[in-house]
Amino acid sequence: MARVTRDYIKSLPKAELHMHLEGSLEPELMFQLAERNKIKLRFKSIEEVKKAYKFKDLQSFLDIYYEGANVLRRSEDFYDLTTAYLQRCMDDGIDHVEPFFDPQTHLARGVGLEVQLEGIGAALRDAGSRWGISSGLILCILRHLPPEEGMQLYQLARPMIGEFIGIGLDSSELNHPPRKFSHIYEAARADGLKLVAHAGEEGPPTYVWEALQMLKVQRIDHGVQALNDNKLVEHLINQQIPLTVCPNSNVRLKVFEKMCDHPILQMLDQGMNVSINSDDPAYFGGYLVDNFMEVDKALEMSRKHAALLARNSITAAFLDPQRKAQLLARLPLEEIRS
Ligand code: ADE
Ligand code: ZN
Repeated sequence: MARVTRDYIKSLPKAELHMHLEGSLEPELMFQLAERNKIKLRFKSIEEVKKAYKFKDLQSFLDIYYEGANVLRRSEDFYDLTTAYLQRCMDDGIDHVEPFFDPQTHLARGVGLEVQLEGIGAALRDAGSRWGISSGLILCILRHLPPEEGMQLYQLARPMIGEFIGIGLDSSELNHPPRKFSHIYEAARADGLKLVAHAGEEGPPTYVWEALQMLKVQRIDHGVQALNDNKLVEHLINQQIPLTVCPNSNVRLKVFEKMCDHPILQMLDQGMNVSINSDDPAYFGGYLVDNFMEVDKALEMSRKHAALLARNSITAAFLDPQRKAQLLARLPLEEIRS
């Protein structure tokens, strides 16, 4: 079996479909922005911040993730954050990105949606012209907040609908089932937006069913808990519903104890439409290619596996058929057919 190398993964055409911009805030940039905005951090050094990144579950991570986002105040901050991520994409050979952002976190601190979108949008456009990275931004609704507030956010965002391609649902999953948000998804669907939702990260398979049947999402973010429901697995395979899986995140948040326990390659071998993504790379130990290499280290990834994962990332992307075809044409067909 021909194993992957870092350079091999970099050379493949790829899209990243599950990455939270706030989760790409590296401690170094956190300190720079804190200084720029005269914000006092509870950490004294970058090392101290990194030491605090020990999580026991999703909630213990989210608490520190929302705290970190507090340094984002001006449109330049959002520009710098997004550009730093896109530079990493450039280094990793990523062709297309569909990043998430959490407007409610920033609105709560008085940072307007226009301010957020101005910085993020300019960075995405610049990366397109400078590096040829195409993109589509996904606005996420925080599920731990009341659905009424999610709807208020959606109404606020509507006049700026040209700035994003779709909506997502993230934050604390347990006890916040997708069905609570179906009216927001109905409105977004009527407006022609793409629909995705986090489901089956820590939550049960019923949440994945709800996201599919009640929110009518086109992709599931995470979805690994679907493996506990055979009927659901069968459905996901038959309908080829994409799951954006995040191996490093799942291990750091104790969804699986060790990377050797991670089912990503089994899911792929079973015919599920899975891709690899970094989720919150600044918090979980690395970017997209790092995730591939961690999986390889623990589970031995063949070049065929890698090519199939890269292919899935492109077919699942919200891209026009022409760009999709252009990217798919760069896949090593001999590996895929082997
Ligand atoms: N927000 C950022 N990362 C997340 C994750 N892994 N699950 C849910 N919400 C998130
Ligand atoms: Zn996520």
